[in-house]
Amino acid sequence: MAQARAKIILAGEHAVVYGHPAIAQPIDLEVRIHAIKSLEPGLVFLNPKMDPQHKSDSLFAQVQPKLVSLFGDRVEKLVFEIDSDIPGGCGLGSSAALSVGLIRAALEHFGESGSPEEIALMALELEKIFHGNPSGVDHTVIAHEDLIWFQNGQVEKINAYRPLKFSIMMASPHAGTRAVVEAVRQRRLQDEVAVNKIFSGISEIVFSMRSQIEQGNLREMGLLMNRNQRLLKQLGVSTPELDQLCEQAIQNGALGAKLTGAGGGGCVIALFAE
Ligand code: PMV
Repeated sequence: MAQARAKIILAGEHAVVYGHPAIAQPIDLEVRIHAIKSLEPGLVFLNPKMDPQHKSDSLFAQVQPKLVSLFGDRVEKLVFEIDSDIPGGCGLGSSAALSVGLIRAALEHFGESGSPEEIALMALELEKIFHGNPSGVDHTVIAHEDLIWFQNGQVEKINAYRPLKFSIMMASPHAGTRAVVEAVRQRRLQDEVAVNKIFSGISEIVFSMRSQIEQGNLREMGLLMNRNQRLLKQLGVSTPELDQLCEQAIQNGALGAKLTGAGGGGCVIALFAE
């Protein structure tokens, strides 16, 4: 049985699509996938928690041919049983976990293995089906299973000085990462200067966040998360519900809080002291 964990983005979402860095880490929710020999190939979902955006048959129909192009005709004799704990449309990387999990399940079935880099490269081909033009941060952090710095396809492990304790709060699901990323693209077409300024601000936050993580300055990290949230709000990807969850978290003692992933709904992460 192969597995792939969900992820959170600590800082840098959206700007990362335009070549800026982001920081992400895996969390303890997973998808489990079992590849079984079969006469009819296919994907079988054992529970209904998958992302509504993935439920589109036309997207799923593209997965099998893509797997054939990656693994050859031998995958035509496989059915993938998928059991996911990762809620969809919540910015936790459900499609990226599905992509990495399918690659791992196929490799496992054929008695083969791959490095995180090789798995990420193959998973990107599946992730493109769901996301169109992903930055790659989601499937990369899931393939590496570590706290990472990601920029333009390059990945570096970050050594945190102390454990980072996040609470994750869920708002209503969003309309799909693809739709939110497209809305940002449209906004940038209308006002490139303003949107680029937001991206530069986010980028600065990501650089500072890395130093604070490495030095263990949780209070500074919290303040950076709050700043990142304000910029995501300016970008138009937060919602009143997400803003309210951030405020509640701060009132309840969080050092900082922000939406994670695409926004437009989904989840808020809040950092607490040890
Ligand atoms: O909502 P998620 O988990 O798919 O995160 C998307 C992160 C974005 O930066 C908004 C998109 C991307 O491709 O990096």
